[in-house]
Amino acid sequence: MSFTIDLSGKTAVVTGGGQGVGRAICLSLATAGARVLVNDYVSDRAEAVAKEITESGGNAVASPFDVSDYAAATKAITAEPVDILVNNAGNAGPAVRDAKAPAAAAAPGTPGAGVRGPSVSLGEFANTEPADWDRYFAVNLFGVMNCIRAALPHMIASSHGRIITIVSDAGRVGEPHMAPYAAAKAGAAGLTRAVAREVGRDGITVNNVALGTVDTIGLEAMARESDEVADRVRRQLKRYIIPRLGQPEDVAGLITFLAGPAASWITGQTYPVNGGYSVTM
Ligand SMILES: NC(=O)c1ccc[n+]([C@@H]2O[C@H](COP(=O)([O-])OP(=O)(O)OC[C@H]3O[C@@H](n4cnc5c(N)ncnc54)[C@H](O)[C@@H]3O)[C@@H](O)[C@H]2O)c1
Repeated sequence: MSFTIDLSGKTAVVTGGGQGVGRAICLSLATAGARVLVNDYVSDRAEAVAKEITESGGNAVASPFDVSDYAAATKAITAEPVDILVNNAGNAGPAVRDAKAPAAAAAPGTPGAGVRGPSVSLGEFANTEPADWDRYFAVNLFGVMNCIRAALPHMIASSHGRIITIVSDAGRVGEPHMAPYAAAKAGAAGLTRAVAREVGRDGITVNNVALGTVDTIGLEAMARESDEVADRVRRQLKRYIIPRLGQPEDVAGLITFLAGPAASWITGQTYPVNGGYSVTM
């Protein structure tokens, strides 16, 4: 006996699909048969993932745009009919305007830190200023609103759609030093619940997947080289029921399931993929 998720004939857009969790989601959706529009603000990354998929026999094309730009998101998402939208772009948003510029310094161990760009950790909220908050809202909330708004008209017209937004346990159960990021993610989760109620009758499901720490920056490899990083990872893992960091592939399976036909009666929900970091009902 086997279980198959068949997305053939469907087109999916995955935002921030050029690396990390987004890349794994793109590969998984393509393996299930979807045509994948690989979005990333950094076009080289989007193109590399689209090439990886096409070279292995899948159907993908790069779709570079900045999700926080409503006009650009609308133009790209309405260029061809999209059946599945995965809002994955997040963390602190684009690190720098030039993809080849050096990455900003950030403490390893926080999502989006290290070689990938600025950290989602801003320190204590009491020491932040409004200007510090904008980038988190731009990508994690307004970017999600932009893409959902752009995708909905076709989904409503075709009486079918799947919208999945990657949020974070930082927004679900709280995480110190990440208040603006947590607030933006919690906002996106609330948006999901509201939109789900509006479009269920149109055959569209809208869900969130909330992540714990996923090793998208090679922390495990760094831990093998550095006692300090190893110690930090060890302390972090004490909070996880399953004592390892998540991998992008841990996330992709659930996304692919939620995108498929077997998930047609699942909407308005938030599913944690977090190794048991939090176990709230
Ligand atoms: N990695 C973790 O531990 C973790 C934990 C909780 C939640 N998350 C969430 O999971 C998602 C993926 O995380 P990741 O660690 O794989 O991310 P990442 O930072 O490694 O990759 C994100 C990709 O999105 C792209 N991007 C950023 N801003 C964009 C924008 N405005 N428009 C288009 N593309 C943009 C980046 O160029 C990058 O390629 C994010 O939403 C993040 O907030 C991650």
